[in-house]
Amino acid sequence: MLKLRLAAILSLAALGCLIATSASGPRPLSSFDPQANALLEKMTLDEKVGQMTQPDQSFLKSDQDIAKYFLGSVLNGGDSDPKEGNSLEAWTNLVDRYMKRALETRLSIPLLYGVDAVHGHNNVLGAVIFPHNIGLGCTRNPALIEKIERITAVEVRATGINWGFAPCVAVPRDIRWGRTYEGYADEPDGVKELGAAAVRGLQGDDLADPLRVLACAKHYVGDGGTAYGSSTIGPHLLDQGDTRLDEKTLREIHMQGYLTAIRAGVGSIMPSYTSWNGLKMSANKRLLTEVLKDELGFEGFLISDYGAIDALPGDYKHKIAMSINAGMDMVMVPERYEEFIANLKEAAQDGTVPMARIDDAVRRILRVKFAMGLMDKNHSLLADRSLWKQFGSAEHRAVARDAVRQSLVLLKNEHGTLPLSKTAKRIHVGGKSADDLGNQCGGWTITWQGRSGDVTPGGTTFLQAMKKAVSHDTKVTFALDGKGAEGADAGVVVIGETPYAETNGDRRDLSLAPEDVAAMENMKAAGIPVVVVLYSGRPMIIDKVLDKADAFVAAWLPGTEGDGVADVLFGDYKPTGKLSFSWPRSMAQAGMHEGDLQFKYGYGLTY
Ligand code: BGC
Ligand code: BGC
Repeated sequence: MLKLRLAAILSLAALGCLIATSASGPRPLSSFDPQANALLEKMTLDEKVGQMTQPDQSFLKSDQDIAKYFLGSVLNGGDSDPKEGNSLEAWTNLVDRYMKRALETRLSIPLLYGVDAVHGHNNVLGAVIFPHNIGLGCTRNPALIEKIERITAVEVRATGINWGFAPCVAVPRDIRWGRTYEGYADEPDGVKELGAAAVRGLQGDDLADPLRVLACAKHYVGDGGTAYGSSTIGPHLLDQGDTRLDEKTLREIHMQGYLTAIRAGVGSIMPSYTSWNGLKMSANKRLLTEVLKDELGFEGFLISDYGAIDALPGDYKHKIAMSINAGMDMVMVPERYEEFIANLKEAAQDGTVPMARIDDAVRRILRVKFAMGLMDKNHSLLADRSLWKQFGSAEHRAVARDAVRQSLVLLKNEHGTLPLSKTAKRIHVGGKSADDLGNQCGGWTITWQGRSGDVTPGGTTFLQAMKKAVSHDTKVTFALDGKGAEGADAGVVVIGETPYAETNGDRRDLSLAPEDVAAMENMKAAGIPVVVVLYSGRPMIIDKVLDKADAFVAAWLPGTEGDGVADVLFGDYKPTGKLSFSWPRSMAQAGMHEGDLQFKYGYGLTY
């Protein structure tokens, strides 16, 4: 049954070969086993354990620890900038410095350096920030997604980093979840093709391509399917919760993105913080080993989520053994690396973790390193600083602007309100997000949670974009609260959510903020046609403004290129986006996918 399903998906993928990079697909990772095994044979237990350990750079007591513990990998959390500051140069120097440390070890095994490049190289000031996945899902355009990730890979490589924790192939089934925007769609069909396109964009055809990076499909599996109220952290609702589904449903909804990502050659997969029917994924041997590795043939390695094994029962040694024995290959510790190393070593020595399991884990990591060409003497391991000139470049921003245009979904347009005219006498703009780049980008932007305001240089807010777009004789006026619109030809209010990430985004109530409703009402009180643009990481409850609005555009979290929104409002680009999420009328419909919804999956107008 599953084979049949897989065959159907593969033939679909073959049909879509316009986007496939090569007929043969990437070389199987296990074909690097002769080299990986030869190296493995030379390794001591300390060296093997080091390959399986991934600290967050901000917790490294000293750079020397990379060599001292033979570390195979380091990551940057969403808040761990270089101590020297958040500049392109500081990032690149840091990564190069770490790589040199790894090369000082006996076997000189190069480092994998991982970062959350989830909508561009979003930790680094000045990077181009693309729309979050929810917006990309509405484009229905795999070729575009491939291009975006290809650019992201170049910006990541410009800092010397060789691994991105993306794409997220979650199928978020309940929009109250704080990570909804990280998913392309709430239906598997909307995820599987785009996830594979992202893998191709990041990794290319050949992992050894110095302009690509290792990808990581996450969070395996069922992260978007947790039961409301099942969160295992604090007072939260869905994040890191429990996915209560039978295996068939889990496979049909939440596994689809992994089938296509594996087919596209994804080299790493991140097991989820969540549980499946009460058992944490970090310890789920059935799903990690039997299904993912044995049945689906995943030949890369598994990297645990940030500190995820801490949530397992027992003492630290027990947690480690439970996870590694279930099939985890590398552990994102991120702080307790010395303790992790000591405990894993002990577990290997006393047989709590069989040596064969350790060897399998290390072999998988080494396969990927060989496939990436890291062991190749002719392969430069340090950053290619000539890529700096492409970082945040106009060319990259142009692609992001196009992505914004294609991601917008027109939900309502009465009396021909849209497109607006560039030669109108006056357009009045309002709303808290109209001139706020941070709100436009959302979470995972420069910091883990993101922030309102001037979050990164080089971008364009919606208000700035409007001013650039109109004719000489057109005035664009602005008032945060939408007042003062009298006499304008039209008004636009930009409202919605303020930035958040992960658990902090879990919400009971997705109604619009009172100030947002007021901005709309103030504008409407002037008796002019009003367009509402919503910046949000998910559908919201919009009944308070939808009826009064003459036009309504769901713009998601578009990122740094606000020009893309103006392009659509002025009709330079006619809307093509279609909802990749069901849109409820009220909170009572949250998590519903059919019935009398406000807007159905696939809805989207044009002009
Ligand atoms: C998130 C992952 C992320 C990791 C590293 C975790 O909290 O769940 O998506 O890749 O942190 O920052
Ligand atoms: C880090 C994130 C990480 C999160 C996990 C934060 O401090 O910056 O990268 O995902 O912790 O809880």
